Amino acid sequence: MKTDSLKTNLFSIEQDYIIKAANIIKAGGLVAFPTETVYGLGADALNPAACAKIFQAKNRPLEDPLIVHIADKQDLFKVAREVYKITLDLVDVFWPGPLTIVLKKQEIIPDIVTGGLDTIAVRMPNHKIALELIKEAQTPIAAPSANLFGRPSPTTAQHVLEDLDGKIDLIIDGGSTAIGVESTIVDLTQDPFCVLRPGGIGIEQLRRIIPQIGPYRKYGILSAGMYPRHYAPNAKVLIVEGNGKMQAEKVKDLAREFALQGYCFGILAKFENKDKYGDFNVKLLGPGNDLVACAANLFSVLRNFDKDRVDIIIAEAVKEEGLGVAIMDRLRRAQGIKMKHV
Ligand code: TXA
Ligand code: MG
Repeated sequence: MKTDSLKTNLFSIEQDYIIKAANIIKAGGLVAFPTETVYGLGADALNPAACAKIFQAKNRPLEDPLIVHIADKQDLFKVAREVYKITLDLVDVFWPGPLTIVLKKQEIIPDIVTGGLDTIAVRMPNHKIALELIKEAQTPIAAPSANLFGRPSPTTAQHVLEDLDGKIDLIIDGGSTAIGVESTIVDLTQDPFCVLRPGGIGIEQLRRIIPQIGPYRKYGILSAGMYPRHYAPNAKVLIVEGNGKMQAEKVKDLAREFALQGYCFGILAKFENKDKYGDFNVKLLGPGNDLVACAANLFSVLRNFDKDRVDIIIAEAVKEEGLGVAIMDRLRRAQGIKMKHV
């Protein structure tokens, strides 16, 4: 059966849609909904059978834990324990927003949500639909990104349908997500505190509140769910580092080589380089100095390359600062061997 997708205007959200979606959550079903980062696939975080359906729909390994979403800062105490001042300081500044915090979990959180870990990842999204849905459902909502495991995260309802049509009960379509890459995940149970996943909030911003925050540990062993090859399009991604003329020259060399070898490939280019690659299949990430725009486009462009069935994506690296850290992280994870189960 096809999955219903209800499109709503963000300025006047249809309350019946929220109620319908909340009823599905309460009844143990699955609803995909927009957040400011990417679309999430939600289930009642306190209902283990409902959460199990998330893993089934996404084809996600059970040891990859879910993020729990709340709509009220006070609810943090219901899902997490050992909440110290530093956590509250972070929450004050960054919630609602693209920051996920890992803390010790409360008993009521089922093991399936946390992959058996004694910790929980929690965030309060900065999106009206998400917040209204959580409030109406009267329960925290466990929600990973609403894509098949290993695929680029969805930034539109259409992306969700591409991966999960017929496998979930409902999608609330709130248009494109604003940020386009997932939340930054900070682990506050480790000493020193560390960033598990770069994302919507830059490490520089976090340092203003936690100057001692540990360096980002690539694919940290800390989280059962930190799979290095995540966010992969079907094509192999090849990153070309650098910038300016040198970078464009390297991209051109590779493109000519692949063309000679008969590969079907595409070039993921910055706006300023759009005319440098002649007739090759070029898709634009955004202006190199506008990392916000680049982040917002990233997953869509990767999915569009998949539609063209390219074997290889030659990707121009962007500056690794602010959102650029998250963009490069996702590209590096996409680089390399294809995921088998996609
Ligand atoms: O922006 C986002 O974070 C989106 C939206 C929907 O909120 N969600 C998202 O979820 O990206 P997902 O499932 O794609 O990524 C969740 C990741 C897991 O893969 C795991 O790495 C980490 O969060 N995680 C969850 N629980 C954890 C825990 N207890 N300890 C460490 N890492 C955890
Ligand atoms: Mg995900």
